[in-house]
Amino acid sequence: MKLFLDTADIREIREANSWGILDGVTTNPSLVAREGRDFHEALRDICAEVQGPISAEVVGLEAEGMIAEGRGLAKIADNIVVKIPMVKEGLKAIRALSAEGIRINTTLIFSSPQALLAAKAGAAYVSPFVGRLDDIGHDGMQLVREMREIFDNYGFRCEILAASIRHPVHVVEAARAGADVATIPFKVLESLLNHPLTDIGLQKFLKDWEKVPRAARKG
Ligand code: G3P
Repeated sequence: MKLFLDTADIREIREANSWGILDGVTTNPSLVAREGRDFHEALRDICAEVQGPISAEVVGLEAEGMIAEGRGLAKIADNIVVKIPMVKEGLKAIRALSAEGIRINTTLIFSSPQALLAAKAGAAYVSPFVGRLDDIGHDGMQLVREMREIFDNYGFRCEILAASIRHPVHVVEAARAGADVATIPFKVLESLLNHPLTDIGLQKFLKDWEKVPRAARKG
């Protein structure tokens, strides 16, 4: 499973990228607003840092506007993926832009039929919002499982990008469900690293190492 960072914060992106495990980045208007920076300038920085797919979202509501915005975003860098919301006008824009070779991530997916339509329209990714479904008392991960089954039944090449990930268990469950990608906030990505037994074990190894005579340490 590929790991994307769900942020527009270039410091977080640089830090995660330095760990050598970052496959891409997703942004959305809320995450961009948090940074208080010029949108295109922020995207240029992100695309220069990470070679993998970088999702950038359109804000128009009519297909024509989405298509124009999508073309503009795609010009920023070769690794831009245009994020389009799952609405009727969005489907038209997905069809048009994907026919031009622009990769699309369909966002705000909350049901399997929505995912099926986005895949049929030519989207490269569909983003089911797992955490937001959990928030309203549904099993968000069940949607990922269902989508996996449907896409596999018909050999859809569209990738399932588990989004709205809130904690490490979501990451594990997304991997078990066969999601192609999980996009993860920086804090959750960082928490994947940690285990108290790792810290305790490391402390003990270093303490025991002190017992090895200095002259015997180099071999
Ligand atoms: O980027 C889309 C998605 O990951 C948003 O997550 O936490 O705002 O539901 P969240």
